[in-house]
Parts: sequence; structure tokens; C-alpha cells
Amino acid sequence: MEKYLNFEITGDFKKDIESYFLMHDELDKYEHTLDVVRELYNIEKQIGSIEQGSDIACYCHDLGRVVDNDEILEFCIENNIEITDEEKQMPSILHQKISKRIAKSVFGIEDENILNAIRYHTTSRRQPSKIEIEVLLADKLSWKEEGYEKLVNDIREALKHSREKAILHYLTDLELNKETLPLYHKDSREAYEYFREKFV
Ligand SMILES: [Fe+2]
Ligand SMILES: [Fe+2]
Repeated sequence: MEKYLNFEITGDFKKDIESYFLMHDELDKYEHTLDVVRELYNIEKQIGSIEQGSDIACYCHDLGRVVDNDEILEFCIENNIEITDEEKQMPSILHQKISKRIAKSVFGIEDENILNAIRYHTTSRRQPSKIEIEVLLADKLSWKEEGYEKLVNDIREALKHSREKAILHYLTDLELNKETLPLYHKDSREAYEYFREKFV
């Protein structure tokens, strides 16, 4: 697992992010990362301002995707990353925790707000911070896969009201489709319940 943590940063953050993905032969994931950063700046245009460090979190959010699927559990065990029973059923969800670990250990990110935005970019959680919401939304708005166009447009539309309405839209979609999801994570369910109560 050393190969994922052995990387010398030069201090040029954006260049280092690029080199890290390319070193692991993950051009697609690097390009996705750039798309997410672009979406974050779109969000900024739309709502006026974004949280400090949100862009750094976007650059780091999928670093953990470089870890091969069949090495995810081993990486987590070696690095003392908690694996819940439901995560064991779908280890790819652990990439958000692995990203946090790489951002911290390899890229020297110490800011807890940024680290949590990375850590919860897929599932969210009860009472997420603004930066956590921004990174999650930028990630979802970057989706280009077929079948997600309507959801992406609806999230964009809800964002005209607020970040909170936009994330509630996304979480409601998960709730409505929970029977068909490979995993409806406990943290996502709690985030949904939190925002639903907030907006009644
Ligand atoms: Fe991700
Ligand atoms: Fe992503």
C-alpha cells in the first residue's frame, strides 16, 4: 500500500495533484477532478461566494479513487480507517475516507473543514457544513453519465434558491430510489432526515 502514500510534493499544489493522478495512470479521474473544480466555480457564480478551501477540497475529493478496488479494504485496515458493515458490502464508498487520508498524508492538508468536505463528499451526513455541501454538489453537478441529466438539471435549478435546497433535492432522490441503490448509506439517510426536517 506504500505506493499510494509515497509521493514527494513540489509545493505547486495543482501540478502535484495532476502528477499524482498521472503517476497512477488515472487520467480520467484527473479530468473528472478538473470538471468538479469547474462546477464549483459555477456554483460560486450562481450563489455569489464559496467557502474558503472549497477548491482545495474539490481537487482532493477523489484522490482515493487511485486505490485499486481489490486493495481498498487492505488500504483501510493498514491505515486504521473504519469500515462499517454496510461499507464492507460496497467498498468503493470508502474512497471518500481514503481521499481524506491521502490529502492529509501526501498533500499535507490539515484544515479539518477541508478534510471533512473530502471525507463526506459522497454520502454527506447530518448537519453538514457549507463547504461539505459545496463539494458534494460540485461533484454531482459534474456527472455526465446517461440517465442523470434530469437530476443534474434539477439540482442546478434548486441551487438558485440555496445550497441547502440543492442538496435536499439530491438526498430526496436517494431516498426515493433507496430500494434500487446498491447502498443507501446511513450517513446519507441521516442527512436526508436532517434537511427534510429543516425545510418543513
Ligand atoms: Fe468521489
Ligand atoms: Fe468525484
